[in-house]
Amino acid sequence: MTLRSVAVPVRVRVPAKINLRLAVGDLRRDGYHDLLTVFHAVDLTDELVIAPGARNTVRTGGAAGVPTGTKNLAIAAAKLLSDHTGLGTPVTIEINKQIPVAGGMAGGSADAAAALIGCSALWGVDIGRDELAALGARLGSDVPFALSGGTAVGTGRGELLSPVLTRMTLHWVLGLSKTGLSTPEVFGELDRLRAAGDRPRVDGVQPMLAALAAGDLAAVADAMANDLQAAAVSLQPELRRALRAGTDAGALAGIVSGSGPTLAFLCTDADHAADVAVRLAGTGTCAAVKVASGPAPGARLIASV
Ligand code: C5P
Repeated sequence: MTLRSVAVPVRVRVPAKINLRLAVGDLRRDGYHDLLTVFHAVDLTDELVIAPGARNTVRTGGAAGVPTGTKNLAIAAAKLLSDHTGLGTPVTIEINKQIPVAGGMAGGSADAAAALIGCSALWGVDIGRDELAALGARLGSDVPFALSGGTAVGTGRGELLSPVLTRMTLHWVLGLSKTGLSTPEVFGELDRLRAAGDRPRVDGVQPMLAALAAGDLAAVADAMANDLQAAAVSLQPELRRALRAGTDAGALAGIVSGSGPTLAFLCTDADHAADVAVRLAGTGTCAAVKVASGPAPGARLIASV
């Protein structure tokens, strides 16, 4: 263990993710699906403020739908790290949420990743990123990516990562939904649609990786695809109209993010994204509209304000 001083409370910022391409394989025996995906972190972030407390508690500023007890993934992460290391004291965690809840942008996993980073710093735990990622994967398939950020190929159930180097900055408009979607339900709906004869798209991540390597924005737009999209749209049919509204508003392409229902629309640059956001908001097809860009860094400590 190394001793270091850290300002208390610790503050951690953690990004949301979009899957630029999400290919879903078969249902495995453990209840998960094999994935082949290109993760992309964006600068829509949650911030966690973590301090020693009398017992583990979480405050979420009233963000609807965020679990408050031990079911909260940030609290679960603090407990897991404490059990794993034998270190740690109770913490109070305040979560300032920007990432949509149950939105398909890995907000819960992001908070777990942030809690792992924050508690490690608070307790002076000397633990490597790989060990943290392995711990995090026990809490949620997307936790390792929330730790690493950037752009990465994900395999396994999404927890095995290889970084993708790209110089491209991608500009996004995000269309939020009034109600969330449950990830297991969306995967279940995909299984149902496939059993009923819907064939998955056959290409994997190669077209997206080639587009990113070439810095070819039109090819990135062309390669954007999500095998969970049909299932998310089946559960929230109004997403179809919102997807069309985004491309009608001038976006290069639009997809459901992860298991949805948040929609991600690719734009040419920041000005274009601002323009598309205003137009999309004007259609009334989304509950809220935000702009973001990526790749963004993974969970990291930030200076106290
Ligand atoms: O890993 P995480 O807790 O985020 O997953 C939530 C649920 O989503 C799983 O219990 C499973 O039903 C579904 N899932 C899946 N295949 C994956 C990831 C998640 O079926 N690769």
